[in-house]
Amino acid sequence: MPRALPLRLPRSAGRRTNLGVLSLLVLAGSTGLLAYGVGVAGPSRWVVAVHGAAGLGLLLLVPWKTVVVRRARRLPPGRRAPTAAVSLGVLVALTVLTGVLHAAGAAGPWSFLAGLGALHVHVGAAVGSALLVVAHAWGRRQRPRATDLSRRSLLQTGGLGLGAAVLWGATEGVLHLTGSPGAGRRGTGSHERGTDDPTAMPVTQWFTDTVPDQSSDGLVIVAGGRRLRVSVADLDRGDEVRAVLDCTGGWYAEQDWAGIRLDRLLAEVARDGLPEDGSVDVVSRTGYRRRLPLRDAGSLLLATRAAGEPLSLGHGAPVRLVAPGRRGFWWVKWVRRIEVVDASWWAQPPFPLQ
Ligand code: HEM
Repeated sequence: MPRALPLRLPRSAGRRTNLGVLSLLVLAGSTGLLAYGVGVAGPSRWVVAVHGAAGLGLLLLVPWKTVVVRRARRLPPGRRAPTAAVSLGVLVALTVLTGVLHAAGAAGPWSFLAGLGALHVHVGAAVGSALLVVAHAWGRRQRPRATDLSRRSLLQTGGLGLGAAVLWGATEGVLHLTGSPGAGRRGTGSHERGTDDPTAMPVTQWFTDTVPDQSSDGLVIVAGGRRLRVSVADLDRGDEVRAVLDCTGGWYAEQDWAGIRLDRLLAEVARDGLPEDGSVDVVSRTGYRRRLPLRDAGSLLLATRAAGEPLSLGHGAPVRLVAPGRRGFWWVKWVRRIEVVDASWWAQPPFPLQ
């Protein structure tokens, strides 16, 4: 019977391996969040590429990390890695697996586990990993050493970066050569779903939000010292924009949206004019809200229709915000109130917490 070849593991592994794993996790976590913040396909392509390379780069360190883990398992029971370290390993593995499955479109972007998409599981596992990483690294704090900047360390870091980039490039190459659905995904990593066919768009909303029971018949505008109630029929003014709704759930759709441009509506309400600066609060019937710069009002639309049809309740009827170039969580649905405020738009959490 043929004998199994012994697995050859690297002889030296330790501090630098751990620092390499930690750096890649921090880079992957921060670029993952950044990818959610950038809605324009061009710039987000770079962010997502660095994210993918950092995440996949972790696989390159597996042989070295295995040595570190094996060594820790030989320690007396009291000094062995606690359950949290094992859970961390499992969560990071799940994060990488679901990231790749989402990118490849292999799990279908929508159902992976208990009705959750691969990307939902990915982000959930990443958040869990982040909490455990802090706990894990806190007890193993390291002081910087002069050798961290030695020629050898820098070469190793460069080698890891290059290897990660090559691995990411090879993964992309395989997706394209095999004609995988992942080859056609947007720069943000989202897969196309329902372009020019709003009924095929998934009904998703920010995880703190829910679809209201019924539609309303109007909204309130507060601008230039005036407060006005506007009926939905009044919003159907024929202003149109073709824009991509790119949901952080991992799908996108391009539609012709119709309604009224926000700057036009605000100018009609605020007869005495609008401030040069300032922001505009867009509030949903559900309490969900986002604050946008007033200077962007010319590119924002209050939409009552998509692809020529009235919006469905799930997609924000009777009126939703269309914010081209911004990710889906800016596109407030079921708009109830719009108010011009003298406050900075950036003085709000980058992602909605309400
Ligand atoms: C521990 C932290 C994380 C790790 C290790 C990780 C790892 C990965 C990996 C390996 C991929 C697949 C890349 C590819 O095959 O090209 C991926 C994709 C993705 N991740 Fe993460 N990730 C992490 C955190 C996050 C976070 C916090 C977010 C968002 C809030 C996020 C969003 C995404 C998105 C949108 C994709 C799809 C990108 C694409 O299609 O190329 N990730 N991630």
